[in-house]
Amino acid sequence: MTVGVEVVVEGLTKSFGRQVIWEDVTLTLPAGGISVLLGPSGTGKSVFLKTLVGLLRPDRGHIWIDGHDLANCGENKLYELRRLFGVLFQDGALFGSMNIYDNIAFPLREHTKKNESQIRQIVMEKIELVGLNGAEGKLPGEISGGMRKRAGLARALVLDPEIILFDEPDSGLDPVRTAYLNQLIVDLNAEIEATFLIVTHDINTARTVPDDIGLLFRRELVMFGPREMMLSSGEPVVRQFLNARRHGPIGMSEEKDVSELEAEAQQGHDPGALPPIPPQLMPTAGRLRRSQQAPGTWLAANGVVPPPGSFVDERGRDWLREYPRLLGSVR
Ligand SMILES: Nc1ncnc2c1ncn2[C@@H]1O[C@H](COP(=O)(O)OP(=O)(O)OP(=O)(O)O)[C@@H](O)[C@H]1O
Ligand SMILES: [Mg+2]
Repeated sequence: MTVGVEVVVEGLTKSFGRQVIWEDVTLTLPAGGISVLLGPSGTGKSVFLKTLVGLLRPDRGHIWIDGHDLANCGENKLYELRRLFGVLFQDGALFGSMNIYDNIAFPLREHTKKNESQIRQIVMEKIELVGLNGAEGKLPGEISGGMRKRAGLARALVLDPEIILFDEPDSGLDPVRTAYLNQLIVDLNAEIEATFLIVTHDINTARTVPDDIGLLFRRELVMFGPREMMLSSGEPVVRQFLNARRHGPIGMSEEKDVSELEAEAQQGHDPGALPPIPPQLMPTAGRLRRSQQAPGTWLAANGVVPPPGSFVDERGRDWLREYPRLLGSVR
């Protein structure tokens, strides 16, 4: 079983030529936690993930993992640190001419000296974990988009990573498949306890899955912190993004200009009340996730009153009141 490792990012800055992508990004991915990174298209979320795994080198800053600085270490150390990571690329990045089994076995054949029977055991275990039983002989082109995502996830898991990065795992999936995938991510985190970072555009995913949420906007990390802090924040960009509102600093062309914002202000757009904070998605079986906190923990510790209707699930159960009892029902 993996344990998950803390990732501390300090003052990270990345540019390509004269184009600064983001500057001075500082955040901590807690060991075993689930974090989500949001941001308008083109703000450098994928670049951030690639920098974290060492595929891109930052201009400056640090990425501390187990006392080593991945951003500033030599090639040998970097190779070693990279093996802590599993990455689920946006399109699954499967080899089209290889069946699902061989795709999932690929990293084991490339990076380990395991024999085929050891490989079979690991591959079948991961196939089971992501619910792809029976699909192992199919080519990527013969299965659905949702199944390809799960195959990509199985492949990201075979080397038992301590840190898993998901680049838009839910893009191109219908809402039902997205819901299943989100549940799979939560269950997986409960089971393997690795550190997760998910880049997503799906507001529902961002609102219900993670322990922590970060938002990249205008070349900086606007805010990063506990889900309850982000969902109760009045900061205009955070508020607009997490509530999928049209009015606010983010426009269709990503960023509104000053005149548009002034026009909106003059028309007196009222940001309105914050919507209720939904309960966090629970693992379906077994134990709680290691990093899971009781609903309302951050709010209570900070004296923040949640919007009315918060923590009530679609069955009308109030998680704020009934958490200890409801906990029993998921165990
Ligand atoms: N290898 C590269 N060389 C030069 N510029 C790059 C490179 N990779 C990315 N960029 C630029 O960095 C910026 C951020 O790209 P990135 O793919 O990280 O955005 P993103 O936030 O993931 O967007 P989306 O939500 O659409 O996936 C873009 O302007 C892109 O053109
Ligand atoms: Mg991207």
